[in-house]
Amino acid sequence: MGQQEDSKAGPLTRFLVDDHRRLDALLQSAAADPITIDQAAYEQFRAGLLKHIGMEEKILLPALQRLRNGAPFPHAVRLRLDHGALAALLMPTPTPVILATIRTILSAHNRLEEGPDGLYEASDQIASAEADSLIAHLGAAPEVTVAPHSDNPAVLKTLRATLGRAGYHLSDDEAVGETTIGVSNQEVPT
Ligand SMILES: [Fe+2]
Ligand SMILES: [Fe+2]
Repeated sequence: MGQQEDSKAGPLTRFLVDDHRRLDALLQSAAADPITIDQAAYEQFRAGLLKHIGMEEKILLPALQRLRNGAPFPHAVRLRLDHGALAALLMPTPTPVILATIRTILSAHNRLEEGPDGLYEASDQIASAEADSLIAHLGAAPEVTVAPHSDNPAVLKTLRATLGRAGYHLSDDEAVGETTIGVSNQEVPT
């Protein structure tokens, strides 16, 4: 994170990196006390991250593919797998292990988006004259209706499967509902 904070960053990069920073701050607030999660901060983070993922999945990635004459962004598969893993991690009641797992995934994920040749720089380069209308479209993205947390076995099974598909794994570090969760940093080919 933080590769694109100079003034040379394009408008799409600035807009989306600002949203990353806002979400980072909310996640940090939620986890400020290592034992008791700040629920209010976490719920803001949860709704904000789901909205951010929606902006990338429904607006940015399709626009980029269109501007690339139908060719998907090279890291699109990796980014979508991470989005699925992150959304699944937002389903159960949060625990310190869930928050740590989200932070680990986001750290690498945001580098792929913010870094050189990342999603945002590529978008700025190709969107050029269209950047302003794309930002207006992103800015008008709807708030996401967030479902209540659920720790039922079906949700935890989905979480386990979605993390597995994205190359992350469940560990025995700490109980989450009836199961356990952790994360590996293994690289997954894109
Ligand atoms: Fe993303
Ligand atoms: Fe992002």
